[in-house]
Amino acid sequence: MKKTITLKSSKSKPLNGIINVPSDKSISIRSLIISSTCLGNTKVFKLLESEDVINTLKVLKNLKIKIIKKNSYYEVFGQGGFFSDPQKILDFGNSGTGVRLMAGLLSTSEVNATLSGDQSLSSRPMKRIVDPLQEMNVSIKHNDGFLPIKVFNNNNQHVPINHTLNVGSAQVKSCILLAALNVKGTTKIVEKIPSRDHTEIMLKFLGANLVKEKNVIKLTSPNFLEPKELRIPGDFSSAAFVIVAVLLSKKSKVKLKDVGLNYYRTGLLDVLKKMNANISIKNRRNFNGEVVGDIEVESSNLVGTVVNKNIVPRLIDEYPILFVAASFASGVSEFYGLNELKVKESNRLASMSNALSKNGVKLKLGHDFIKIFGEKKQEGGNQVETESDHRVAMSMLIFGFFSNKSIVIDEMEMIKTSFPTFKELFQNLGAKIEYFQKL
Ligand code: S3P
Repeated sequence: MKKTITLKSSKSKPLNGIINVPSDKSISIRSLIISSTCLGNTKVFKLLESEDVINTLKVLKNLKIKIIKKNSYYEVFGQGGFFSDPQKILDFGNSGTGVRLMAGLLSTSEVNATLSGDQSLSSRPMKRIVDPLQEMNVSIKHNDGFLPIKVFNNNNQHVPINHTLNVGSAQVKSCILLAALNVKGTTKIVEKIPSRDHTEIMLKFLGANLVKEKNVIKLTSPNFLEPKELRIPGDFSSAAFVIVAVLLSKKSKVKLKDVGLNYYRTGLLDVLKKMNANISIKNRRNFNGEVVGDIEVESSNLVGTVVNKNIVPRLIDEYPILFVAASFASGVSEFYGLNELKVKESNRLASMSNALSKNGVKLKLGHDFIKIFGEKKQEGGNQVETESDHRVAMSMLIFGFFSNKSIVIDEMEMIKTSFPTFKELFQNLGAKIEYFQKL
């Protein structure tokens, strides 16, 4: 039988230190894609070197965009929106952001290309981007609403659209905005439920003709984006694992430096504060239009809470680790409006509730909600089926720092998609996490 090396986490000592978390995945991917459309060279400092980002970088190279790695930055040689037909299928691996944003940009570029991804990405819905792109009159083929997607040069027959986004998705919004960069006229997007605005911030920073009034975004093209230096903040979604681990640990205090604090990403802070978390933000400043700060977090006695659906897009990637926080909080927590969790790297409502209940957490699962009955002591000891989802894997490893028995995850490879230094960062803080050989 094949032996697999995976990870095991066990009861940990206090966590202390001053750290930098990995750079932001969403902003890293956007920095490569958007700077490829500038005319001239962009230096990107602190690019996240994780699999999702590197897959997007390789895709851009296949489209004949030159990108060079220097000592402290990546240099992207933008060609003002011109790409060459790739010689092979564009493989985005696990990255929903990469494929959805590039599908938008390429669908209105003068290029023919096929976009694909791994098994998990191939089961995620693409109709949500195909529909608005078809309204723009692009030439696109898809596999019944799934990957692979093929885009064809339609000789600029596309048209601007007025589109109301029914789903609170930054990937869909960004797909339309990047497509609109090549569409003469004004594209208007109405956001019913606002989502992360990294694309809008970066486009404006580089000089795009974009205005946002309340929940209406208007992008008027043609645009001539100017290359500028970009610096990627720390990823709040990676910081979330450290924040929850420190809150649940005894006698712990950690400072996380230079973390991105975009309003639409930091719903977790609001929820944790309601749960009695001791967290403060220092040194607020700005990296290329994005709010950044240092987060100080200390051990806290968390209490249960109710989280309603209006905050979902501001918290979307943090539910798995928030469920872990709720498992060890005193009292009941309730989370509503979770349908979008079902179409992430795994069905996170199912994968997290399976992993938690298998390890002793009492919970009640509904069609789009979950109720978690928190207890200071949880059992642990049962292998976690991560469903190849990096955030499920990392959340349950954090669970293992506090459960009576250790936690082993079925596989660890996918952690590289967003947080390649997860094990080392937690070891340096004082946590017990080690390689484990599974039979
Ligand atoms: C992302 C948007 C969110 C988020 C994903 C990254 C982005 O997805 O879950 O991890 O970079 O735009 P949706 O737009 O599908 O909600």
